[in-house]
Amino acid sequence: MLELKALRCGYGLMEAVHGIDLTVHRGHITALLGPNGAGKTSTMMSIVGRVQTRGGSILLDGHDITAMPPADRTRCGVAIAPEGRRLFPDLTVAENLVVGGYTRTQAQARRSEERVFAMFPRLAERRRQRAGLMSGGEQQMLAIGRALMAEPKMLLIDELSLGLMPSVVDQIFETLKVLKREGMTVLLVEQNIQRALQAVDDVVVMTAGTIAYQGTSAQAAGNDRLADLFLG
Ligand SMILES: Nc1ncnc2c1ncn2[C@@H]1O[C@H](COP(=O)(O)OP(=O)(O)OP(=O)(O)O)[C@@H](O)[C@H]1O
Ligand SMILES: [Mg+2]
Repeated sequence: MLELKALRCGYGLMEAVHGIDLTVHRGHITALLGPNGAGKTSTMMSIVGRVQTRGGSILLDGHDITAMPPADRTRCGVAIAPEGRRLFPDLTVAENLVVGGYTRTQAQARRSEERVFAMFPRLAERRRQRAGLMSGGEQQMLAIGRALMAEPKMLLIDELSLGLMPSVVDQIFETLKVLKREGMTVLLVEQNIQRALQAVDDVVVMTAGTIAYQGTSAQAAGNDRLADLFLG
């Protein structure tokens, strides 16, 4: 579904990602793991076009999206729930969802909103609540819901569980399983390695802007080297 080839990106003079090759399989949930500063967020943001690519290419569902502006990438089928969620705190739940559907017609957006509310009943109950007044878990659901408003083929989630109660994290992973059954491809960043290994199909570990490990979660679970990668 997604193929990064020799992808490089960075900020100013600093290169954060040094030419990585990465494949995300269609219909799989893949965890992108690694210590702080490894380049996970930079990689995710370059896929959606919010951090500029310096070299290499990004293929989504066979289309080269490397040079596309963010809105065109969204239309090609990739959407993100970004690190820090980046919601509009003073807008309501429903209004934040509208933002996520900006590439689509009003009728399409209404249908997607119904789907999001069916998937996250908490959001439906709170549709007129201001986003900034909700719990961390509800805000993460809203960030994911906003991404789903674009009806992506591929969903990116950066820092899925950061600061959330375990029960909420479980609930979100359950929702991802439902999405997967419907054919969604997911790439997520997760700090809790054990939690990720239980819930995903494939694992990619980044360290210092490079790929240090790539395999199935079953292979990764039996791999002692994985822990070493995080300790540096
Ligand atoms: N906006 C920015 N401007 C300059 N440098 C940045 C910026 N964002 C990230 N960096 C640098 O790029 C490198 C990769 O950071 P990135 O945020 O991609 O890592 P990460 O793996 O997501 O880390 P974390 O687990 O802390 O979220 C780091 O050296 C970081 O300091
Ligand atoms: Mg990050």
